[in-house]
Amino acid sequence: MRKKIVAGNWKMNKNLQEGVALATELNEVLTADKPNCDVIICTPFIHLATVSNIIDHTVIGLGAENCADKEKGAFTGEVSAEMVKSTGAEYVILGHSERREYYNETPAILKEKVDLALANGLKIIFCIGESLAQREANQQNEVVKSELEGSVFHLTAEQFANVVIAYEPIWAIGTGKTATSDQAEEIHAYIRSIVADKYGKEVADNTSILYGGSCKASNAPELFAKEDIDGGLIGGASLKTPDFKGIIDAWKK
Ligand code: 13P
Repeated sequence: MRKKIVAGNWKMNKNLQEGVALATELNEVLTADKPNCDVIICTPFIHLATVSNIIDHTVIGLGAENCADKEKGAFTGEVSAEMVKSTGAEYVILGHSERREYYNETPAILKEKVDLALANGLKIIFCIGESLAQREANQQNEVVKSELEGSVFHLTAEQFANVVIAYEPIWAIGTGKTATSDQAEEIHAYIRSIVADKYGKEVADNTSILYGGSCKASNAPELFAKEDIDGGLIGGASLKTPDFKGIIDAWKK
């Protein structure tokens, strides 16, 4: 059976001390009251090694928010997948719409990152999702299909088992506008169907597909109750322990 997951994406928030305080608090709360799902926190690079030593990895997984599209060498300012792995992190987010939009990450670049992440033993949270204009033109299915085809559908089924998909409609990220649970379920079911077309039903049934975009404790139970929604990728609401815990607890309802 596929995993239920609640993952936090801290984005460019929290200095080192603030991040350590948040991870420490979250670790205390979740070791005392064990979640019914996998919990992952994805932090800026600078937090990874320190946070890795703070958390109980059997309760909280750790991930980066990005990695380089090159293996090693003269790429000033970049952080490789191998470096991420060496911190104790198990995951990396790739393909977030903010990186596609602001840092011009193309499907071809993301494909390089995907291959390097897997070669270095990282699991991938791969983000896909349409803009408002694309949704209004009813192009969301084509968009998510081409994002998967461009960067992850070259993988073998065995490799693909290390990929979690996060559907994040760009118009719902940080806007307070959530996709309705029916809208989200419709496209999640579509995403699962194209994974099934590519890898077969068993692989598709084992693939976790997360929803992201203004997910919070108040709407998480309704979203997570849907057949094809296996959890959430959480931005703003992952920055405070009670907010994040409220979403994690949606799996207990
Ligand atoms: P918000 O939860 O802040 O809308 O962000 C979602 C997101 O982009 C997670 O990757």
